[in-house]
This record gives sequence, structure tokens and C-alpha cells, in this order.
Amino acid sequence: MRIIITKDYQELSQKAASLIAQQLKEKPSSVLCFATGSTPLGTYENLVSLCKDGKADFSKVFTFNLDEYYGLADDHPQSYHYFMSEHLFKHVNLRKGKSLIPDGTVKNIKEYCKHYEWEMKQKGGIDLQLLGLGSDGHIGFNEPGSSLGSRTRLKTLDEQTVKDNSRFFDSEKDVPRYVLTMGIGTIMEARKIVFLVSGENKASILQKVVEGPVTSMVPASALQLHPNTVLIADEPAASKLARKDYYSYVEKMQERYEKGEI
Ligand code: GLP
Repeated sequence: MRIIITKDYQELSQKAASLIAQQLKEKPSSVLCFATGSTPLGTYENLVSLCKDGKADFSKVFTFNLDEYYGLADDHPQSYHYFMSEHLFKHVNLRKGKSLIPDGTVKNIKEYCKHYEWEMKQKGGIDLQLLGLGSDGHIGFNEPGSSLGSRTRLKTLDEQTVKDNSRFFDSEKDVPRYVLTMGIGTIMEARKIVFLVSGENKASILQKVVEGPVTSMVPASALQLHPNTVLIADEPAASKLARKDYYSYVEKMQERYEKGEI
């Protein structure tokens, strides 16, 4: 895992957006997979600016999303369909019909989830996966205990996640208890993962994710086994990493290498 520690959230967001823009430059027809939550908001803002300045072109891109609340229609203000449209899709030159987000209203869930995975394969697989981190260590909506080989499916939210996400709803009881989420096995098939973690409240769980054992009790720890993950953490989130200084040193050495200084 490559670990980039930024001084603040702003720098984290700029770095993440520039990695995505770079991906689009290298492969204009990239298949991207997006995440929701507060953490990627700054990244999306930066991507919108880059697109307006002609530095990020979405015209040939296809996008997927990690997850969706089960029971929310796509025009519900708390649905992830609505979130993606508001924060990214309607501001960039992504073509109509070129994004797929799990449909939270389907009846035949098993068939549908299989089909969602099939669509990913049809498009050639995910080139770049954006991820955030839940306070209990989840990625997507894969709560602790999720199989590290899991695929897209219906999951039940942990009470902690219901509490965390209640800030977006009128009250805790309005938070859907079921979700559709790509599995950890699905996520691990992405060719590149950009993993964003921000804020002091994520510091303890991030330490477990990066420096603890790989375990389904901390779903994001599976990323230790992924060959091409870039973790971008701001200072507060990185504050409990035991080998923080070493990771920063490695990054400096990497930059020198990329500039041809060694
Ligand atoms: C939700 C999403 C995750 C996200 C997590 C953390 O549960 N399903 O994809 O990473 O929230 O959100 P935040 O970035 O707001 O802390």
C-alpha cells in the first residue's frame, strides 16, 4: 500500500482528484467506481473544477458506484443516486447512460446483484476504485464480519453505521437498515484503488486497517492484500500510525525517484 499523508483535507482532496485526472489522461475510456460519504466531497469539487478547466475529460468514461440504500428511490435526497448527481455527474461531461449505481428499489435482489457484477465484467472491470472508510472499518457497506471474498449483495447495517449516517437524515429511525453493496471480493478486483481517510475520528480504525492483521473484523484491512492501493490520509487521520514517519520518508524518496533525482 502506498501511503500519502497530507497536511489537511484540502490537500487530500486535490491529490485524489489529480490521481483520477491522471487516470483519465492515461486511459480516456476508464471505468471508474465512486464512493459516497463526506470524505470524497472535496475530491468531487476538485474534479468538477478540473473538468471545467479542460484538465479532466469524462466524455469516454463509464462509472459504477459502490453501494446504495435499499428502499430509497433514485430521486430521494439521501439516495446515493441523488448524491452522485448533485456532487459530480451533473457538473462534468459524463454522458447520459454512462453510470450505474445499485438500484435500491429492485425486487429480485439476488438476480439484480449478479447482473450488477456482470455489467462490471462487460465493461472490462474497474480501472480505478475510489474508497472511503467507515468508523467501524467498513468499505462500501461491508460491515465487520463481511467475507473478504464477498460479492455484490444485500447487507444489514451495523448500528454504529446507522448512527454515523443519521446525520444526513431527519432522524436515526429514517436511516434504511438494508443496503446493496459491492462485496470486498468485488472491490479487490479493481486495478487501482484510491483510498481516502480524513479526520481524527478515523485515526484509531485507520491504524488497525494499515498496521493490524488482515481480518474480516476490520473489512478495510483486506486492502493490505491489494497490489495497487494508494491511501491518502490527512494528518489527523494518520496521527495514530506507528510507522507514520517512515511512510512520509518513503513518499519523499518516491518523489525524488520520479523526478529522476536518484
Ligand atoms: C458510508 C459509505 C462508505 C463511506 C462511509 C464513510 O457508509 N457507504 O462508502 O466510506 O460512509 O463516510 P464518511 O466519509 O462520511 O465518513
